[in-house]
Amino acid sequence: MKNIVVLVSGGGTNLQALINAEKSGIIKNGKITCVISSNPEAYALERAKNNGIDTDVIRRRDYKEFSDYDKALTALLRSKNADLIVLAGFMTILGKEVISAFENRIINIHPALIPSFCGEGFYGLKVHEKALEKGVKVTGATAHFVTEECDGGPIIIQKAVDIKNGDTPEILQKRVMEEAEWKILPRAVSLFCEDKIKVIGNKTEIL
Ligand code: GRF
Repeated sequence: MKNIVVLVSGGGTNLQALINAEKSGIIKNGKITCVISSNPEAYALERAKNNGIDTDVIRRRDYKEFSDYDKALTALLRSKNADLIVLAGFMTILGKEVISAFENRIINIHPALIPSFCGEGFYGLKVHEKALEKGVKVTGATAHFVTEECDGGPIIIQKAVDIKNGDTPEILQKRVMEEAEWKILPRAVSLFCEDKIKVIGNKTEIL
């Protein structure tokens, strides 16, 4: 059984999707053992507590140097015996130390079809605003491993979502979450826990 540690900053609907998936058996061979938030007020922490999951908080602003924060987060994740780390709306950039300590063991969910609408500055509603501005007809979500290149790591699963007449960034964000993020993130997590993801360079093969 693999220990899954979920990093959050906000509402935690992706965390909720993971909790539900664990309960219903969609996640095989994995257990959410801890939820760590960058924000002590995050509602995601309530979701964890309501489900009897251990919680912790680490704030970037409590460390003067970024490298000290990077070290502290790495040590915290090690102390939790994390086998897999899931970024579920975690709004703080990860540093080199934590990324290399957990190479190919950190999964992020991005609300677009990478390599579209991704990279620095593409987070939250901005992603959907840009997709609507461009007039693409299809967007979606991507579950991928985290590397030092922002949104550039090996892709695990993608799911497309249609854009409809009259969509606003808010409407589109909700549809992408419901139809794509909440489905593919638990699937990617289960594939990892079942050792079914083979990483070859910057690509993956699902076994
Ligand atoms: C999601 O859109 C996710 O793709 C992005 O941040 C948002 C998190 O929402 N990385 P929630 O906290 O899971 O509700």
